[in-house]
Amino acid sequence: MIDHIEDAIQINNLTKTFGPHTILNELDFNIAKGKITTILGFSGAGKSTLLKHILGLLHPTSGQIVVLGKDLATLTPMQLREFRRNFGMLFQYAALFDSRTAHGNVSFPLHEFTNLDEKQIDERVSELLLSVGINEEAFHRLPSELSGGMRKRVGLARALALSPQIMLYDEPTTGLDPITTKMVNDLIVETHEKNRGMTSIIISHDIKATLEISDFIAFLDRGSIVEYLPVSEFKKSTNPIVQEFLNL
Ligand SMILES: Nc1ncnc2c1ncn2[C@@H]1O[C@H](COP(=O)(O)OP(=O)(O)OP(=O)(O)O)[C@@H](O)[C@H]1O
Ligand SMILES: [Mg+2]
Repeated sequence: MIDHIEDAIQINNLTKTFGPHTILNELDFNIAKGKITTILGFSGAGKSTLLKHILGLLHPTSGQIVVLGKDLATLTPMQLREFRRNFGMLFQYAALFDSRTAHGNVSFPLHEFTNLDEKQIDERVSELLLSVGINEEAFHRLPSELSGGMRKRVGLARALALSPQIMLYDEPTTGLDPITTKMVNDLIVETHEKNRGMTSIIISHDIKATLEISDFIAFLDRGSIVEYLPVSEFKKSTNPIVQEFLNL
């Protein structure tokens, strides 16, 4: 395993069972602060379940999750809700509010979670939308009036609204055409580089894109991390399961 200088997330001996099924089996690994780490794995490997533990939406059957130095088990539900502000999430289908404009989507978390006044919110929303490449003429369009790529950009702007320290991308490019896929990957890297110290975690099947943009790759197979390496070494992995995935 990798010896990090500083970890954003420590996963200590995490096991999760649902009834008789062990979904995560004694996971023991850390995620480096300020880097891009991808969690790869076949469907059903437990990727989303792991992500839900990191967000404190699921609780371990045994083991411990420490995020930014906080053991999640020590937080009350209210503290946990507050703590989730450290995370920005971008989902597969951007998950925008259909009845809110681009502007309305991005202003939503600012209204909910900050004491900024209307003018300050308006300035922050403009700054966020412009930073992800949405021009003013599109600020007041509904999601249905935006292209898929633009919806992703708006989703990203919304995820960044509260300046999260950790960005989580769940299957950010699944189902997108190659051009939009490249755009989203470029956007992930750009966002990572613009926000110094940000930790980016990507869950993906997209092996090709992942190899291009990640610093580290963790391979999850049937609830266990079977390989976890810097990307240059991951490409040379001789693990048969990883090989199978690389050669798909
Ligand atoms: N709440 C639950 N109750 C019972 N089983 C569950 C629950 N959540 C997930 N599982 C099981 O855990 C396993 C892992 O699911 P998970 O969604 O984490 O996989 P995944 O790696 O994200 O897959 P995909 O790539 O298809 O999204 C699956 O077998 C799933 O059926
Ligand atoms: Mg999943």
